Amino acid sequence: MKGTVLVIGGTGAQGLPVVKSLATDSKYNVRVLTRSASSKEAKYLATLPGVSIFEGNTYDEATLRQAFKETTHVFVNTNGFAIGEKAEIYWGIRLYELAREFQVEHFVYAGLEYGSKLGNFNSKYRCGHLDGKGKVVDFISAQPTWPMAWSVLTSCMYMEALSEFLRPFPDPENPDTLIFAAPLGEGRCPLIYLDDYGAYARWIFDNQAKSNGVELHVGTEDIRWEDLASTFSQITGQKAVYKDVSLDEYFKLSILDPDAIVGHSSDQNDSTLQTYRQNFSGFWNTWKDNLTKRDYQLLDTILPTRVMSVKEWMEKTGYSGKYASLLKDRRDEARK
Ligand SMILES: NC(=O)c1ccc[n+]([C@@H]2O[C@H](COP(=O)([O-])OP(=O)(O)OC[C@H]3O[C@@H](n4cnc5c(N)ncnc54)[C@H](OP(=O)(O)O)[C@@H]3O)[C@@H](O)[C@H]2O)c1
Repeated sequence: MKGTVLVIGGTGAQGLPVVKSLATDSKYNVRVLTRSASSKEAKYLATLPGVSIFEGNTYDEATLRQAFKETTHVFVNTNGFAIGEKAEIYWGIRLYELAREFQVEHFVYAGLEYGSKLGNFNSKYRCGHLDGKGKVVDFISAQPTWPMAWSVLTSCMYMEALSEFLRPFPDPENPDTLIFAAPLGEGRCPLIYLDDYGAYARWIFDNQAKSNGVELHVGTEDIRWEDLASTFSQITGQKAVYKDVSLDEYFKLSILDPDAIVGHSSDQNDSTLQTYRQNFSGFWNTWKDNLTKRDYQLLDTILPTRVMSVKEWMEKTGYSGKYASLLKDRRDEARK
């Protein structure tokens, strides 16, 4: 019998390539849970073979109980920026429990690095949107691999963010030169090409015997921002430099509102939630100090066709540094 994969977060930047990779043939039925079947993203997904849209709120038990019916596989990307760290931990664990109750065969969780733990719980690495998912990964990793298989697909910043929240801007004093600014020092920061991310998810579902009980850390390349800027110049012929900014300078760049609360759909007075300044200080420190690691040899064997470098990605996609929308949350916010 054909399996049905319930995808949570399927309309988002991360979930879209997962749904697309599952819909490339007729092996799976894919059920995408979304708050609105009439969004541009949901309408597009509904055109893919084998994909159906299930309307409802992910963070609601009654909705989940309906959505889990006849589900054989689950892919979960909860949205920590919407619900905040505390709810992300709760729902990650609850989704695992419901999957067990509904006798799901394979549960796949979209993880992120547990920066605080990797940094020996030094508060400089405390980042709720990483740590929240990291704590859920620790919970899942402590579960048996039978009767339900589990896998974790741990990612990093999206390569496509180089056209959105990581994009370069003209040097005010010398507008012919573009500046890639980040508080990264000499850190090598991983980026993941999202189509390959989708292909790893597909590999996990297709190869349950190999992926069961595994946390797969994926990336395209770990790159120093200086090399990112010089690769960009090499490919486009446009002058570009890396500016290693302090965290204070970074938060003045108007990329995000440093005083907003991470968890826009949760109680803004919840004192456990961090501000963007607090959250992204821990975030950048985690990458700056190279706390994380990916096994690229393993990734080569799993996905021999993978994009191997930022340079290859820039060439493949005709990257120009110009703005392109990536995150659904940001588009929804802009519409409001
Ligand atoms: N940005 C990065 O580079 C990056 C990298 C790795 C991991 N992540 C993680 O990915 C998660 C976000 O997913 P994404 O990158 O795919 O973001 P996105 O493009 O902004 O998509 C947001 C997703 O969250 C869903 N959602 C459910 N309830 C929501 C609510 N109350 N408010 C807003 N959205 C809601 C949306 O579904 P509907 O609107 O259809 O209901 C949509 O599928 C975060 O936890 C983040 O930490 C981000």
